[in-house]
Amino acid sequence: MNRKIFWILLLGSWWSSFASAQETTQQVAKPGEIVAQLASEVADAETVISNAWVIDWMKQVGKLPAVEAWQIESNGKQITIDEGMFYYARYGSPLAYARALDLAVTSGFEPATGAKIFDFGYGSIGHLRMLALMGHHCVGVDVAPFLKRMYANANGPLGDGSVFVYDGQFPKEEALTEKVGQDFDLVISKNVLKKGYIHPSREVSDPRMLIDLGVDDATFLASVAAMLKPNGLFVIYNFCPAKAATDKPYIPWAEGESPFSKDAFVRAGFEVLHLDVVDDAEARRLGHALGWDAAGGMNLDTDLFAWYTIIRKNSDKEAGTQP
Ligand SMILES: C[S@@+](CC[C@H](N)C(=O)[O-])C[C@H]1O[C@@H](n2cnc3c(N)ncnc32)[C@H](O)[C@@H]1O
Repeated sequence: MNRKIFWILLLGSWWSSFASAQETTQQVAKPGEIVAQLASEVADAETVISNAWVIDWMKQVGKLPAVEAWQIESNGKQITIDEGMFYYARYGSPLAYARALDLAVTSGFEPATGAKIFDFGYGSIGHLRMLALMGHHCVGVDVAPFLKRMYANANGPLGDGSVFVYDGQFPKEEALTEKVGQDFDLVISKNVLKKGYIHPSREVSDPRMLIDLGVDDATFLASVAAMLKPNGLFVIYNFCPAKAATDKPYIPWAEGESPFSKDAFVRAGFEVLHLDVVDDAEARRLGHALGWDAAGGMNLDTDLFAWYTIIRKNSDKEAGTQP
C-alpha cells in the first residue's frame, strides 16, 4: 500500500501498534524523494485553500531538508527512519495541517514574520519546519518516546525561524512548560484534543486508546491561556473516521468534537469564536486534493469527517472580567 494512503487510513488514531507493524514493510525512501513527492501535491492542494499565506506555507514543503535514512531502537526493535518516517511520522502528511492553518488566518491570526506558534501533540515535524522556513518560531510537545528519539537532533534555527520539539506532558511538567515559553500568537492542536480521547461518551475497551492530559480541564485551558498573547488564537482541528454504530465497539478518535465546553473556555479567559463546527465538506475537498481517495484509499463521503473549534484569548482589558 502506498505510504500516503496507509497513513491517512489511520485517521487520527494515535494508538499505533498497527503502524509499528507496517513500518518494517515500507521501502526505504531515498533522501529528497518524499519531499519531491509532497511538493508535487501542492498544485492541487492549493486550490482548496483560501489564504495566500497558507499557500505560501504549502510551497515550503519542497524546501524541507532531505533526510538520509538511519536506524533507531523502538520498543526493543531496530527501525529505519527514512525521509518518509521523518516527515509523515505515524500520522500523515504535513500538508494535512493546511485546513487548520487556513481557518486560523480566516479567524484573525495575522502571521507577521516571527510569529510564535505552539503545537500540542505535534506528532511530526514537517509542518513546523515549513512554518520555520517562513520565519516563524515553532514549539511542539508530544509524549511519544519514538518522536523524542527520531527528532533528538532536530531542534534549532531553520531558515529565518526555528523549531523546538519537546517530549513530555504539558502543562503537568513544570520544567517542560517553562521551556515551552509564553507570548504565543497561535496554539494549534490537530487530531489530539478530541472529545472521544479526553471525555469519551461511551465505554472504551482499552484505556491506552485515550489521551491523558495529566491535569483537569480548567488547569489545561488556563495554561493555554497563559501561554498566548492577548487576542492570541487557539485552533482545535480534528479529522475523524465515521462514528461506530451503537452496537459496534466505540472508536474514541471518531468523536472529534471539542472535549471542552463553551463555559470551560470562557472561564479560562477565552472568547469562543467557533465551537464544534462541522467541516466535513472542506476536509473532503482537501482529502481529495491530497489524493486520500486514490486507488486503495478512502471513500471520502463515508470515511472522512471533521470538526473545528476556534477560541481567542481575551485582550488584557477584558482579562479578569469573566465570572
Ligand atoms: C493522532 S496523533 C496527531 C499528531 C499530529 N498532531 C497530526 O495531526 O498529525 C495524536 C498525537 O497526540 C500525542 N499525545 C497523546 N497524549 C498526549 C499528551 N498528553 N500531550 C501531548 N501529546 C499527546 C500522541 O503521541 C500523538 O503524537
